[in-house]
Amino acid sequence: MNNKEFEKRRRQLMRMVGQGGIVILPSAPVRTRSRDVEYRFRQDSDFYYMTGFPEPEAVAVLTPGRDGGEYLLFCRERDPKREQWDGLRAGQAGAIEHFGADDAFPIEDLDDILPGIMESCSRVFYTMGMYAEFDARMAEWVNTLRSRLSRGVHSPHEFVALDHLLHDMRLYKSRGELSAMRKSAKVAVAAHKRAMQVTQPGMHEYEVEAEFRHEFRKNDAWASYSPIVAGGSNACIMHYVENNAQLSDGDLLLIDAGCELDYYASDITRTFPVNGRFSAEQRAVYEIVLEAQQAAIGKTVVGNHWNEPHDAAVRVITKGLKKLGLLDGSLPKLIKDGAYQQYYMHRTGHWIGMDVHDVGDYKVGDEWRMLEVGMVTTVEPGIYINNSRKVPKKFRNIGIRIEDDVAVTSKGPDVLSKGLVSDPDGIESLMR
Ligand code: GLY
Ligand code: MN
Ligand code: MN
Repeated sequence: MNNKEFEKRRRQLMRMVGQGGIVILPSAPVRTRSRDVEYRFRQDSDFYYMTGFPEPEAVAVLTPGRDGGEYLLFCRERDPKREQWDGLRAGQAGAIEHFGADDAFPIEDLDDILPGIMESCSRVFYTMGMYAEFDARMAEWVNTLRSRLSRGVHSPHEFVALDHLLHDMRLYKSRGELSAMRKSAKVAVAAHKRAMQVTQPGMHEYEVEAEFRHEFRKNDAWASYSPIVAGGSNACIMHYVENNAQLSDGDLLLIDAGCELDYYASDITRTFPVNGRFSAEQRAVYEIVLEAQQAAIGKTVVGNHWNEPHDAAVRVITKGLKKLGLLDGSLPKLIKDGAYQQYYMHRTGHWIGMDVHDVGDYKVGDEWRMLEVGMVTTVEPGIYINNSRKVPKKFRNIGIRIEDDVAVTSKGPDVLSKGLVSDPDGIESLMR
């Protein structure tokens, strides 16, 4: 993402916040993995969306209309000794020169400087509850100001949930963001193709997972979540991540894996036969899921509400399960009673963007939100028939999900991950 885009976002947010408001955005903290080893640092999505600044120990402050600069960045000072161990830092000069800050200060000076800036503001825009430690500091600054009220010091009298504004901005993807998401999808598509081509009976799930990690890193991307590589009955466990079982001839393999490239996620699922050929029953169930996905994608258009794709998928799945003899009853009643939920227990999609499960409300008041240009959602119906279901044996141990990332555009649904086959013949021919 280029600097202009970050600046445009700050301008837009400042317009919404208005004079007298102050936005306070902390970076993500560094987290310990074990003892003195840390997780690889990943910047907070809200912070990055507004700043493009990748370092920890930073705080961005936006004060619309402030004379001494509207965009302030508190960050680590340059320190050759520390940088030799932990990597380069932008420092205050870099924050101004490369990240567009109007002014920058050492992060150590936050307690001394920020309360003084808050004092002249009436409304504080801040996301409470994200980082407990920062919440506590915020409370301290406010209490300090309050304790000086009798000496004529002002304190802000209104606290506003920043996430409400910011997450609504993030829900509508710009052209630049859509392009980043397309690239992220493209890398994930290549990885899924690779997996289809290497999978053989006898391999282990982790060996297939390795193909994803290799393809992601080769393209400067990381997994955007722990890949689910689930053979046979493991596919019926929604969040299966052990990925340590051996793949059997005759089983299906469900892979839910996506990457994060330049801070944008992809989230793709494909299900294919370990031996390259669907059985008749596997194919019959697969075709229902595929039809459900196509129906749902067809409903992912401007003017429909959020739940319409899900309703369409539920209808196709219920009808299909009835036809296979796995559900019994009248279609409207099966749908109304949620009978399909024993085989299809999750929803058909979620917003996707900088976060895999991206921000943005699904309802406005009590009503489902309308789909609009720039929103991006996954479309991921599935059918899961585990061992304990009282169904003919040939239908058991079948877990199928097909997931793509779909942008809502003025020209209809744009499947960002469309480069990856999903029809069963196409899959079989790719695997040959
Ligand atoms: N990979 C997580 C999901 O599909 O929602
Ligand atoms: Mn997924
Ligand atoms: Mn998903």
